[in-house]
Amino acid sequence: MSVGHTHPRFKTTIVAGVISSVFALNACTYLSSDSGTAQTTQNKKAQHQAEKIVAKMTDDEKLKMLVGAGMAPAQSDVANLGTTVPGVAGYIHGVSDPESGIDLPAARLADGPAGVRIDPSRKNDPHTYYSTAFPTGTLLASTWNTDLIRQVGEAVGNEAKEYGVDFWLAPGMNIQRNPLLGRNFEYFSEDPLVAGMMASAIVEGAQSEGIATTIKHFAANNSETNRYWVNAVVTPRALREIYLRGFQYAVQESHPRALMTSYNSINGKNAGERADLITSVLRHEWGYDGLVMSDWFAGKNPVDLVNAGTDVIQPGGSNVVNQRIGQDLGDWADVVKAGYQSGKISRATLDRNVQHLVSQMLKTPSAAHYSFSSQPDLQSHAQLSRQAADEGIILLKNARHALPLKTSANVASFGITQLNTFKGGTGSGDVHSPYVINIAQGLAQRFTLNPSLQKFYAQYFAANKTVKKGILGISDIVSCPEPAGKLKSLIHQSAKTSDAAVITLGRNAGEDADRRVVRGDYLLSKDELRLIQRVSKAFHAQHKKVIVVLNVTGVTDVSEWRDQVDGIVLAYMPGQETGNAIADILSGDVNPSGKLAQSFPLHYKDVPSAASARNFPGIDENGDGVLDNEYYNEDIYVGYRYYQTFNQPVAYPFGYGLSYTSFDISHATVSANLLKAQSGDQTSPLISLQARVTNTGDTKGKEVAQVYIAAPEVKLKKPATELKAFAKTRMLAPGQSQTIKFDIPAQTLASFDSAHNQWIIEPGTYRAYISSSSDISDIQPVTFSVSQEMVVSQTTPGALALQKGISAASFVTVKK
Ligand code: BGC
Repeated sequence: MSVGHTHPRFKTTIVAGVISSVFALNACTYLSSDSGTAQTTQNKKAQHQAEKIVAKMTDDEKLKMLVGAGMAPAQSDVANLGTTVPGVAGYIHGVSDPESGIDLPAARLADGPAGVRIDPSRKNDPHTYYSTAFPTGTLLASTWNTDLIRQVGEAVGNEAKEYGVDFWLAPGMNIQRNPLLGRNFEYFSEDPLVAGMMASAIVEGAQSEGIATTIKHFAANNSETNRYWVNAVVTPRALREIYLRGFQYAVQESHPRALMTSYNSINGKNAGERADLITSVLRHEWGYDGLVMSDWFAGKNPVDLVNAGTDVIQPGGSNVVNQRIGQDLGDWADVVKAGYQSGKISRATLDRNVQHLVSQMLKTPSAAHYSFSSQPDLQSHAQLSRQAADEGIILLKNARHALPLKTSANVASFGITQLNTFKGGTGSGDVHSPYVINIAQGLAQRFTLNPSLQKFYAQYFAANKTVKKGILGISDIVSCPEPAGKLKSLIHQSAKTSDAAVITLGRNAGEDADRRVVRGDYLLSKDELRLIQRVSKAFHAQHKKVIVVLNVTGVTDVSEWRDQVDGIVLAYMPGQETGNAIADILSGDVNPSGKLAQSFPLHYKDVPSAASARNFPGIDENGDGVLDNEYYNEDIYVGYRYYQTFNQPVAYPFGYGLSYTSFDISHATVSANLLKAQSGDQTSPLISLQARVTNTGDTKGKEVAQVYIAAPEVKLKKPATELKAFAKTRMLAPGQSQTIKFDIPAQTLASFDSAHNQWIIEPGTYRAYISSSSDISDIQPVTFSVSQEMVVSQTTPGALALQKGISAASFVTVKK
């Protein structure tokens, strides 16, 4: 049996796309599903209608659309805005012109990615406007289940639509280049295939509800320190193969209607000011036909943004961020207007950008005058949020079957995070959810928690928690230290009376700051280490098990303490149902099937981008106190590509995750090799593989089969292996098998030859390992061969080139 989501090109999903009615100039009713033929037809119609509208627009109307309405504008400041939706992040101006008959409503833009971010309450209004907090991107990716993630996309899309949102500012899909990146929780993976597949699934789901998604942050937005101005120095090959590739998959597969550029510069120029990036590569090479918006206050010069192809600058007004470094150009709408009047922006450019905006705005719920209910089905979405969390949580360690715990068990629950539970990260990625089930509440539903401990933690938390506002006043950040040294007698008493100990540890992070390798952040604090040590000693003396639950934003050190405990459950940030989802796993009601979408290094110093500060988060070249350049010295060797190629041991490899049952992957074969018949279509299947997955244990469960390919090195150096396809099985009963087919298209197999501006497949023998993780040491590969070099696609000559004076040779960690 074939699973439909091994690669986006080869889905078997059938979606009925219905165009509800056709756009007419004065009565815009254009709202439909985005998929297949329906989408193409809809796009063509919208393009055509947009041309007619743009031809009738005045220069002033066009110029107004190029820049947003400013931070928190009054309703009257946004051209042709219907109802306001408090808490949205921004707007795109509409047009209302009785003379020409144009009635194009303004569009409302709201954050993501863990849900729809709007204000939960309004003045003089008893109704509430909560949104479902879904698991963060990292946990969604850990499900490796694109069908499930598509459903999450549908639910979020529906909430956005029912709350009056037109553009959802998500998904975030940057590569988790380094564990310290403050926004890693919003992103999916260190691997572009996983990131691209997850983003595509969310985009398809959300856009099927008729709203637009905005994939972000394009591109190489891989650190938060000095995020507005840092310059990523990165080779065109690493950009193409690692940092752009996920975006390419998402654009070509799922047709996101919008894309947000990043704050950072790339090889000397701000991302949104790079015509080669957002016009040559994105539009001309990949065929993107959505709109491009800037990140909030990104860019150095609005005229350059417009000319490069940033269709709308957000949020509008003056650039408060640039003012901080003494660059105040005034209101950017005025600068753009002056740029047009002086000829720095041509009419053709103005029309091009406005055409992109109008053709996407015609498809919004606002354009369809959709009468939103403000009452999405939060209950069913809560269930889906829990299901997604259940499938993403990863079992890292389970010595001597420490887990699952019997539901009748007496559990001693330690750690302040059981009360100060993190549903998600901070900043624009935070969501106002109706509630959060904290970990103690979730555990209490399944187990009998030690009452003295619960009382102690509740009192301690109430007395010691502090609340502060996060960046830009977004989200409250609650902190509370571990109760140092005060637990001694409770540990000993509970070790006697409880059946097991569960210790919960938490870490939060968010935009505008990176994490640090210090105690209490990447490393456990002294108090946390002491807690693990004392609890383990006391419980092990009584022959009882100790489980650690990690409710963390991202990769956190495990090497220092993991040998002391029996089980480790990596929950990341599971959304509003956190406590319930963790209890589902600990009790065995759900058999864990999450797999790491990022490697857990043995030590931070082993991370390839940690070679020096110059590498991550960058270096202050001119001594002015801010970082200037961030060198991507590890080049294409990011995450497991590095650890495998350079034989660097890790704590837990990419793709890894345990189950309460066991699986066998067998009968791997190359079922089709179309290499010789290759017609030049980069998206047709080229190599088809298959394997059989069997549940060999005694509990039902799901497994993820992952295809890692080792390619021959001819002209180009290659990572030891790269993930080229994956699929999650359905629920397999003990003894049951499922055969999975993987189709790998030419573009996915290819490597980037920057010397010739081409994607190529090099000749030689390829080894394919179908495995349950990136640790392929015990796997017998199947092989296929390529007789001569194949050029898969040509790219824009010289695009994204390194700055003068920097050559590929200065990338020190590149494989010799
Ligand atoms: C973030 C974006 C977000 C935007 C609007 C920016 O600071 O980088 O991800 O969508 O704000 O809130």
